[in-house]
Amino acid sequence: ETVEYAAESYDMGAHDTYMHKEISEQADAVDRALRGRIDDRFSTVHLGGLNLDAREARGVRRVKILGCGTSYHAGQIGAQMIEELARIPSDAEPASEFRYRNPVVDPDTLYVAVSQSGETYDVLAAVQELKRKGARVLGLVNVVGSAIARETDGGIYVHAGPEVCVVSTKCFTNMVVSFALLALHLGRIRDLSVADGKRIIEGLRRLPEQITEILENEAEIKKLAELYADAKSMMFIGRVRGYPVAREASLKLKEVSYIHAEAYPASELKHGPLALIEPAMPTVAIVPDDDLLEKNRAAMEEIKARSGRILAVAHAEQEKADHTIVVPKNEPELDPILMGIPLQLLAYHTALTLGRDIDKPRNLAKSVTVE
Ligand code: G6P
Repeated sequence: ETVEYAAESYDMGAHDTYMHKEISEQADAVDRALRGRIDDRFSTVHLGGLNLDAREARGVRRVKILGCGTSYHAGQIGAQMIEELARIPSDAEPASEFRYRNPVVDPDTLYVAVSQSGETYDVLAAVQELKRKGARVLGLVNVVGSAIARETDGGIYVHAGPEVCVVSTKCFTNMVVSFALLALHLGRIRDLSVADGKRIIEGLRRLPEQITEILENEAEIKKLAELYADAKSMMFIGRVRGYPVAREASLKLKEVSYIHAEAYPASELKHGPLALIEPAMPTVAIVPDDDLLEKNRAAMEEIKARSGRILAVAHAEQEKADHTIVVPKNEPELDPILMGIPLQLLAYHTALTLGRDIDKPRNLAKSVTVE
């Protein structure tokens, strides 16, 4: 499988940093992940390298996704998508935790190793241990021909193109899109209806344009970043589909700005973290317009009652929040793909305001190929 990156070399072009360049390339990157894969006739997708026939796919009883850092967060969203669309119990775990706890390796479980570089040692070692025990392991990888791509039984290339900035942005988005494709594929082999398959495909097709719409909002997000850059610490909250989005946004902010951040399910606030809420600790709330909207509004009310500042990412202006970044609405299952994107820009502009070394944050490496 070969893909041309003509429009996107390693050249930074008009951008000051690779992070900014890579955030800006996401509409094209997503378009590339979809290209040639959609099958309208059967409302499904074709994933050429999967190496899993329909009978085998029907036999999968669990999906276990393994990755590190941002890729692990992409896996968390992916697990929810697979569980929702294909109704297969699924979860994600950091690859290093998995390999050190002597896990039960089950023949009916489909393992998915997710990695931008395809070289992260903990992920590779988990793959090798799984293979040794006879498990079926797929790769969801960006770098073609990398070690993890070679050692897995098959998989999906995410086609994000070269990513240079240490912190991952466009590759994360393309990983989540690739998981949506895998979820749709597994779903249509099982019980996902033609109508739902069609609905998801239409949603996928809307993504590039909606990403462009979000990125056009950069000036406003920059102002918000400048406003919140005085924070000592930041809380990120979300529920179910919004929770891994909150986790990834929190990681992005701490990696590039060095502001301490933590992510919590909104429902867990009252079990501890509410004690931290004060004006110096603002909250970023992921508030999609879904069946949990009222619950999320109640959480924002709790925070306001403790004089916490709130920046919401939502599908419409939020009364309870001090500021709202409004993002376009897609299908509920695909909304997490879009809701994280403005928060990449928030992290970027916060780091810029604080004068950080954006493409090479202190103490971090693009890929960790040692134990
Ligand atoms: C490093 C990078 C992270 C990345 C992680 C996993 O820690 O700094 O940005 O998410 O490795 O890398 P991978 O190449 O396996 O996705």
